Amino acid sequence: MSSIEILGTGYVSAEKKISNFDLEKRVDTSDEWIVQRTGISSRYVSETENTSDLAYKASLKAIEDAHIQKEDIEVIIVATMTPDCMTPSTACLVQAKLGLNDCPIFAFDINGACSGFLYAFQIASDLLNRYHHILVIGSETISKMIDWNDRSTCVLFGDGAGAMVLGRGETQLYHYANSEGDLQQVLHTEGLPLIHDLQNSEPQTHFLTMKGNDVFRFAIRVLKESIENVLEQSGLTIDDIDLVIPHQANYRIINHVAKKMKVDISKFYMNLQEFGNTSAASIPIAYAMAKEEGLIPEHGRVILVGFGAGLTYGATLIDNVGGQ
Ligand code: UT7
Repeated sequence: MSSIEILGTGYVSAEKKISNFDLEKRVDTSDEWIVQRTGISSRYVSETENTSDLAYKASLKAIEDAHIQKEDIEVIIVATMTPDCMTPSTACLVQAKLGLNDCPIFAFDINGACSGFLYAFQIASDLLNRYHHILVIGSETISKMIDWNDRSTCVLFGDGAGAMVLGRGETQLYHYANSEGDLQQVLHTEGLPLIHDLQNSEPQTHFLTMKGNDVFRFAIRVLKESIENVLEQSGLTIDDIDLVIPHQANYRIINHVAKKMKVDISKFYMNLQEFGNTSAASIPIAYAMAKEEGLIPEHGRVILVGFGAGLTYGATLIDNVGGQ
């Protein structure tokens, strides 16, 4: 258990909105199939901006929302599996874009795939023993690792970024993180796409491949396990929780979990209709949007829960949101 405060949040979508109808023109799919099987109606795709650009924009919003000076930031952690380049880290690029080159900043990326933000958030909360203000970001331009001719993956994903500024406070956190090393390539991409090129859809080794049904079953199992784990640690029940913010992968996955846990689906926040799956950005974007919509009450309780390639998964129960 650790104590923090979420001082500010912000999010951005990528520039270009692509509807299911747009995808119908590109691959053999239909709006009806995508909506029925996933709940997704659109997604945003970056045309000129890379992962650090989206991360920077979301950070500016989170810093403004936190009512701090950007110079107060001591740590920058970016969760991403689609960095701009191998090195420097996206976090260092964000530091530069924020104009903080002369400030002493502990900056690094982590790759936990779609669980990346949860992993970063958990690391950041532990680092608050040493630092006062930490910028945690989930940012992806996953479009650059998508084969836009593969209907089984291209309909699912989108680009975006979400950020939080964390400080010390009285909000209690209960964490759970796990992984099940995968050599079966259930959710996999070779190498690293360094060049952002939406037009080039010739077969590439860096395109994401996925055994969708395996991921579906895995997701239902570990989302439930992760939620139950943090509830048990906290001594709370699901009825004590105001909102669950799951990784925004598929409406049907979330609905299965809600049914298995005998919880009304309305307790699970979803923006996947508009954003699709933005990987490490999905949870911080959803948190910021839920906050904007007034769905996260002061002193309330929220569970963040996710899963992704690795295979990785985990949850954090946030108790006493905004507690000082
Ligand atoms: O962050 C984690 C990322 N990954 C996920 O969360 C993925 C988890 N898995 C899923 O969400 C689902 O498995 C999918 C949405 C990917 C697929 O849904 P499904 O209900 O499991 O469909 P399926 O893979 O069993 O495919 C059913 C049919 C197949 O055709 P046949 O073999 O029955 O003739 C597919 O070829 O649907 C076909 N299909 C499509 N049809 C129209 C697959 N993709 C499409 C498509 N449009 N986009």
